[in-house]
Amino acid sequence: MQRLQGKTILITGATSGLGEAMAHCFAGEGASIVAVGRNHARGETLIDALTARHSAIRAQFFPCDLTDAHAIGDLRKAITASGFAIDVLVNNAGIFKTYRLEEVTPEAYDLVFRTNVGSAIFMTQAFIDEVCQRGGNILNIASIGGLQSYIAGRSQYLYAPSKAALIEFSQLCAKNYAPDIRVNCLCPGPNDTPIYENKDFSRILPSIPMGRMGKPADVARAASFLISDDASYITGAVLTVDGGSSI
Ligand SMILES: NC(=O)c1ccc[n+]([C@@H]2O[C@H](COP(=O)([O-])OP(=O)(O)OC[C@H]3O[C@@H](n4cnc5c(N)ncnc54)[C@H](OP(=O)(O)O)[C@@H]3O)[C@@H](O)[C@H]2O)c1
Repeated sequence: MQRLQGKTILITGATSGLGEAMAHCFAGEGASIVAVGRNHARGETLIDALTARHSAIRAQFFPCDLTDAHAIGDLRKAITASGFAIDVLVNNAGIFKTYRLEEVTPEAYDLVFRTNVGSAIFMTQAFIDEVCQRGGNILNIASIGGLQSYIAGRSQYLYAPSKAALIEFSQLCAKNYAPDIRVNCLCPGPNDTPIYENKDFSRILPSIPMGRMGKPADVARAASFLISDDASYITGAVLTVDGGSSI
């Protein structure tokens, strides 16, 4: 029996990068996939690829701009109406935008915090009862930038605090909703995905003890463990998957 067989997993930000890799990995372990993002074309391409490779699972794309908390209520209704009941919620959608302190504006603050923190809070609010009833779990994708200010540097005055808030939110939910569900947090190090506009990684590489950038499959395999029953006594964890960058 495959590790995630019979589970239905909702992944936000499944249309690209780490979310897309998780969708392929989880489907490969037998899970049905509810994919959420804004980009219709990439969402439908993902679903075609998943259903072509894994005939035994269901997979469907639901478009939603997760910065709109009201749209999340409609998203929840649409997912339920399509016959999905969510076992595992993976809050992965996020944006990486760099701002020095003097560059931060109220609009930039709103965008980064609504995307990186608000989406996880309102998605959790919408789905936590269902996940609890089904004995499932929640995984939030933060970042090592939310753990260590020396990694975040001088240009992450919004991204790093947003990810730190997500880590705190995860642990708060883990504590308050135990033992009904587990809530964990995964902190990736640098992975070469579309999130980086600047693809010159020469400054980052020397700070990674493992000597290479992360691959989305590295994050996906660790996520698959955390959401599976193999991690049944793990809650409130903050797992770095970063090749040692945060040591
Ligand atoms: N790559 C890294 O090095 C790295 C390191 C640490 C942490 N992370 C975290 O890992 C997560 C995934 O990153 P990634 O590298 O895979 O980035 P990515 O390739 O840019 O993908 C980001 C995903 O988030 C979705 N998204 C963004 N804003 C959204 C919104 N308003 N509503 C709905 N969906 C939205 C995008 O979907 P649409 O475009 O379809 O809306 C896309 O699927 C992020 O939270 C990021 O902070 C990444």
